[in-house]
Amino acid sequence: MTITTTAPGKIILCGEHAVVYGRPAIAVPVSQVEAKAVLIPTKTKFHIIAPDLKRDYRLDSALPDDPIASSIKLTLAQFDELPPHVTLQLTATIPLGRGLGSGAAISTVIVRALAQYFEQPLSTDMVSRLVFEVEKLYHGTPSGIDNTVIAYQQSVYFIKGRPIQRLRVKQPFCLVIGDTGVVAPTHIAVGGVRERWQANREQYEGYFDDIETLVRHTRVIVEQGISKPKALGKLMNENQELLEQIGVSSPELERLVQAARQAGAWGAKLSGAGLGGNMIALVELAQADAVAQNLRQAGATDVIISQIE
Ligand code: MEV
Repeated sequence: MTITTTAPGKIILCGEHAVVYGRPAIAVPVSQVEAKAVLIPTKTKFHIIAPDLKRDYRLDSALPDDPIASSIKLTLAQFDELPPHVTLQLTATIPLGRGLGSGAAISTVIVRALAQYFEQPLSTDMVSRLVFEVEKLYHGTPSGIDNTVIAYQQSVYFIKGRPIQRLRVKQPFCLVIGDTGVVAPTHIAVGGVRERWQANREQYEGYFDDIETLVRHTRVIVEQGISKPKALGKLMNENQELLEQIGVSSPELERLVQAARQAGAWGAKLSGAGLGGNMIALVELAQADAVAQNLRQAGATDVIISQIE
């Protein structure tokens, strides 16, 4: 019996980084990209094949700092089981290390595949918790937003440590997601913000408060139906400015943000941890292709047009 599980990518609409400090953030799943696990029972020891991650090894020879092995081991411990004789094939169309939640999505498909293998029903909350444990091992001080939006496959208004609040998107809207192609590990951006926050708490708490205000406004606009896309775009632009001030933007991100605005986007900002990775632009559906084209001309290595519902 072969088991297949999938999980989507994600983007953060607003509130990244401030969410680590207790402020709310909004994240939405991106179903155009996914992580996939295929678990095949065999007669030999647990074998992991992950070509996108350039990995091919046995579980018992995994290095201690390997997130795939950690996801497997935490799940086995949860079920009180020994490593089964299986081959686990992992693939991802989510670009790795670019703010689209590849790490949380890969952990999610592993947890779900093993739960099915052992016929252990796992609530979505439990999946999210297990993935959060892995995130904590590799991302320093994660808020838990990535594992939540990806495990639930739902748009969320997220506050660290609080029960999940679903975001009701009254009227679908269109985002163009542009990839700088720059790999930027989350823990570096998050760790940099922490250092600067420690050195200048008052100023950073002020930035985070300003981000909180715009996240709350964004929620109202999205839940009431986007009759005012310009207002939502303005909030995204303000969020980008604050992200620049806290030091997580980059020249590549800013070039793409400018290109999107020049092509008529209502607003644009980096999305996720920053320092590279992806940016997002709010666009009228009819303009999505033009914005996508401008992003490519400005150096985007990949562009996704996503309807948020
Ligand atoms: C990463 O997708 C979002 C950050 O806010 C980190 C986190 O919340 O764990 C940068």
